[in-house]
Amino acid sequence: MTIDIAVVPVAGHGTRLLPLTKSQPKEMLSIGRKPVVQYVVEELAKNGIRRLLFITSHGKSSIEQHFDIDEQLIDYLRETGREEQLSELDFERFDMKYFYTRQRRQLGLGHAVLCAQPLIGDQYFVTALGDSIIGLNAQSEIVSRMTNELVRSGADIAVAFEEVPPSEVVRYGIAQPKGVTDDIFELVDLVEKPTVEEAPSNLAVAARYVFSPRIFEALERTPPGKGGEIQLTDAMRLVLREGGKGIGFRLPPGVHRFDIGNFQSYFQAFAEFALADPVYGAPLREFMEKLLRQGSD
Ligand code: UTP
Repeated sequence: MTIDIAVVPVAGHGTRLLPLTKSQPKEMLSIGRKPVVQYVVEELAKNGIRRLLFITSHGKSSIEQHFDIDEQLIDYLRETGREEQLSELDFERFDMKYFYTRQRRQLGLGHAVLCAQPLIGDQYFVTALGDSIIGLNAQSEIVSRMTNELVRSGADIAVAFEEVPPSEVVRYGIAQPKGVTDDIFELVDLVEKPTVEEAPSNLAVAARYVFSPRIFEALERTPPGKGGEIQLTDAMRLVLREGGKGIGFRLPPGVHRFDIGNFQSYFQAFAEFALADPVYGAPLREFMEKLLRQGSD
């Protein structure tokens, strides 16, 4: 068995980024030179995903258009002698089949994943949040490490985790690992947004998952939780509580999860990617240093 299918939920309202997200998807916001979701797709393509199912919704059609092959634009670039810009469209040629289904009401991330059931059926599948980038330049290999291990072990759930400072555990789903954690560890439970005292670790869920079809059955039995939404974490806990096996994967040092869901992390992500730009990074750094010096005068 190989796992080559991924579900990418992009149907959320993105209310924390209003008014920016009133008429454009947060997954299409730019981080450096590319929209967020392009990094996600590039990462998945690199990790052996060949079939990708977007869970989409009203107002998200620009995501579909972004992954179309735009013959007109290609002709235009050729005819006007801008061949060098054609390489910017290389991502259109990925060996990837795209599928789209609608989450007709935004009832939470768990509900969005459940919308994939009729198409995924009895397969193992990756889930990658469309508003989160792992590492600079979409080079992360965490997803293929997770799929390989799940194929080998037959576990039901794999989750990527990022180490966060203790003061930040209150913002995330946190791993309860068995014993001392290595890069790969047994996941016993998850605790949603614990206090520093309650937190069983400082490992925060990092937007990449692999599931056996057992997750669907658990999602169907998961009642709405916080905010009336069906929470993916609650369904994962149900699987673990009922004897399903979970494995946690720690992101390697230096590989950060960029969450674009709120303004602070969106601005930080943009700044980090822009500063790492091969052409514009260095002059931007100079500009920012000047700006900061002015600010401290
Ligand atoms: P968030 O948890 O950030 O929710 O989604 P949101 O609704 O997009 O944003 P806020 O809280 O209103 O600001 C994490 C990922 O899950 C998708 C989002 O599109 C995002 O990529 N999602 C969330 C869905 O597909 N459907 C939902 O009902 C909720």
